[in-house]
Amino acid sequence: MADRCSVRAPAWTRRQVLLAGAAGAAVLGLSACGGSTDTTSTAAKPGAPFAQPTVLTSTNGRLEVTLKAEVGTVPYGDGTRFAYTYNGTSPGPTLRVRPGDTLIITLENHLDEPTNLHTHGLHVSPEGDSDNVFVQVDPGQSHTYTYVLPGDHRSSLCWYHPHHHGMVAPQLGGGLFGGIIIEDAIDQLPDLAGSTERLLVLADPKVGDSSSVLDVSGMQKMQGREGDAALVNGLDAPAIRAAAGSLERWRVLNASPSRYYRLALDGHRLQVIGTDGGRLAAPDPVDELLLAPGERTEVLVTPTKPGVFPLRTRGYDRGSPGMGGGMMGGGGGSTSSIDGQVLATMVVTGSASAAALPSSLVPEADLDAGVAGSERPIELAMGMGGGTGGMGGGMGGGGGMMSFSINGESFDANRTNIEVRAGDSEDWVITNTSSMDHPFHLHAWPFRVIERTSGPPDVPGWKDTVNVPANSTVTVRVPLTDITGRTVYHCHILDHEDQGMMGVIQVQ
Ligand code: C2O
Ligand code: CU
Ligand code: CU
Repeated sequence: MADRCSVRAPAWTRRQVLLAGAAGAAVLGLSACGGSTDTTSTAAKPGAPFAQPTVLTSTNGRLEVTLKAEVGTVPYGDGTRFAYTYNGTSPGPTLRVRPGDTLIITLENHLDEPTNLHTHGLHVSPEGDSDNVFVQVDPGQSHTYTYVLPGDHRSSLCWYHPHHHGMVAPQLGGGLFGGIIIEDAIDQLPDLAGSTERLLVLADPKVGDSSSVLDVSGMQKMQGREGDAALVNGLDAPAIRAAAGSLERWRVLNASPSRYYRLALDGHRLQVIGTDGGRLAAPDPVDELLLAPGERTEVLVTPTKPGVFPLRTRGYDRGSPGMGGGMMGGGGGSTSSIDGQVLATMVVTGSASAAALPSSLVPEADLDAGVAGSERPIELAMGMGGGTGGMGGGMGGGGGMMSFSINGESFDANRTNIEVRAGDSEDWVITNTSSMDHPFHLHAWPFRVIERTSGPPDVPGWKDTVNVPANSTVTVRVPLTDITGRTVYHCHILDHEDQGMMGVIQVQ
C-alpha cells in the first residue's frame, strides 16, 4: 500500500543496537521493504506486560485535574531515565471526558523554564483561558485552563502537550504529553461495547541523564530530533495479551517530536475505525498505517489463532534538509524508525473465529465536509537565509542559518497571517517545496483531506494533522465553523515549529 520505502540502511547507534538486543535482535531487519511478514514470528519474545497511563474520568459533566510539569526520572528497563513529566509520569494521565463536559486543568510549572498547555484536537475556543497557546506560564507559576466541549464534539483521541514557542520540541521530546479521550455521546457504539479498548502512546525519547537527553545538535534540529528508543506508554516492546475471538480496539497516538511510524501487525490487518478527529463511517482495512507526529488512529484487531504477533514499525524515509549533499555531511538520509522494529507484541491465546466487525460507525453525513467557498495556498518551505527572519532560523550544519517558513514568513506571535470570516469553508492547498516531509497541523478546526499528489492514500476521516510529503501538494477542506478566535497552524515536526514553521489564523 505504501508507495515509498526506505532503501537506506538505518543509521544504527550503539544505543539502538543495545535496545534492539533487548527486544530480540533476531526480529529486527526481518521485514523487507514492502514485504509481507504474515507469519507468527517465533523470533519475537514478548516484553514487559502492557500497561497504560492512569485514567482520570469526568463525573457529572466535569473533570478537574492538576498537571505538574516537572523533571525527574521514570522507570526504564531495569533502571531509570531522565524525563520531563506530568505528575511524575510520561505519558501523563489520560483524561476521559464526554461531549458537553467542562475540562478544567491547572498547569503548575515546576520546571526552570516557561511552558504552557495545548489540547491538540479539541474543537474548543482558542481564546482566553481556553486552548490559548499564547499564554505563557513562567517557572513557579500556574495557570488554570477551562475547556468547554460542545455537546456534539466527535468521539476521538486527542492529547495535551506544551506549546511554548521555541521550547516545544525539547519539552515534548523530553516526555510532556498525555492522552485525552472524548468518549461517545451515547455510552458506546453498540457494536464496540464488547471490545477491549487500549491506548498506545508512541514516543521516542533519548535515553540517558539530563545532559545527554537535552543535548541536541543544530543539525538534529533541522532534521527534527529523534530519540534512541521507540516506546509504547513508556515501555519497551510491551506484550498485549488477547484472547482469540475477542475484539481488540487500539487508540494510537504518535507523540514523538519528529519520528514517523509505519505500523503493521504481523499476521493481521488493521481495521481502521477512527482518525484524528472522529470515527469513520465503516471500518477501513489496511495492511499498514503511516502515523506522522501528532496523528492518531483507532483500529480494531480480530485475533483468531495463538501466537506472538509483533506490532512493527517499518522503515520510512521522511527526507532530509537536502542542501545539495555537501553541506549536510554527505546528505545522509533521515530514516525515521528502524525497518521492522518491534513496538509491542500481541500475545494471543486460544483459537476462535474472528469477532464480528461493526458494519457502520457514524452516519456518512458526519463525514461530509460540505463545499468550499475559496482556495487558499499554503506553502511550506525550508531554505538557506531568506524568509523574513522573525523568531525562526535554525543553525545550519555548515555555518548558515536555515529558515523555516509558511507562505514566506516565519512565525511572529504579533502577526496574523490569515484572516477568515467565521462560518466560511476553505480549501487549503498545502504545497511542500522542501526535500523533507512536513506534517501540517491546524488547531481548533478539523478538516478532511480532499486530494494529494504523493503518499499513501488517506483513510476517509476527520483530521487535524496531515503528512505533506516532500515536494508534493495536499489539499484539505476546512469548515471554519462554530468557533472564533486567534490560533495557529504549523508543522508538527516540533523542531521545525520551534524554528518558525508556524502561522497565525484569526477567525472572526
Ligand atoms: Cu500538537 Cu500546535 O500542536
Ligand atoms: Cu494542536
Ligand atoms: Cu516540518
